[in-house]
Amino acid sequence: MENGIRILMVWLHVLGVALWVGPQFFLAFAWVPASRGIADVPTRVKAMRTITRRFGYIGGVGLGLILIAGTYLISTWRDYWGVGDEVGFLDLRYGWIFTIKMALLLVMLVLVGFHIFSIGPRQLDLLERQANGERVSEEELARLRRLSMTLSMLTLLITLAIMALGVTLSVGEYSLQEM
Ligand code: HEM
Repeated sequence: MENGIRILMVWLHVLGVALWVGPQFFLAFAWVPASRGIADVPTRVKAMRTITRRFGYIGGVGLGLILIAGTYLISTWRDYWGVGDEVGFLDLRYGWIFTIKMALLLVMLVLVGFHIFSIGPRQLDLLERQANGERVSEEELARLRRLSMTLSMLTLLITLAIMALGVTLSVGEYSLQEM
């Protein structure tokens, strides 16, 4: 029974990661180049709004699954790996790797929040105003585009690093070594 729950939780954790990381690759390497080919700006902005909103739903569900299953995995790590309470969390590589993983997660969430709540909406509003025939600063538009690309790339890199740390945690021969 316990093994069954463990398998389910690791599966949910990995499913969450897939839902979180997959759309990031799709958006950066498929949608962005494709959207440049849409010459009609109002159509491009409308499609961009739909795609980024859907990205938010899918990624949000992914992040939710990651957090729920991750909380289970960390709250049962001692039982699963047979590590007694006499061993401190940070006495093992496991504790340090997990702590770094959580710090990176925090940085990633801050970057994502900045992107979703500040840069993204400003970029879309500017594009929308341009599509409506208003005069907008090309310089500002280019600046936001650069910032948005940088944030996306950083988020993707941090996500990949967090995944590597997660996999390292699950290799007990390595992660359960004393520091
Ligand atoms: C609240 C946040 C998180 C918690 C508490 C958490 C916790 C954990 C724990 C404890 C493990 C290792 C389980 C073991 O001892 O074998 C793990 C594995 C893993 N984590 Fe996380 N994690 C979190 C977020 C993330 C995020 C954001 C990602 C990537 C985007 C991620 C990717 C992974 C991967 C790929 C594994 C390896 C799964 C396996 O093959 O066993 N985790 N996580």
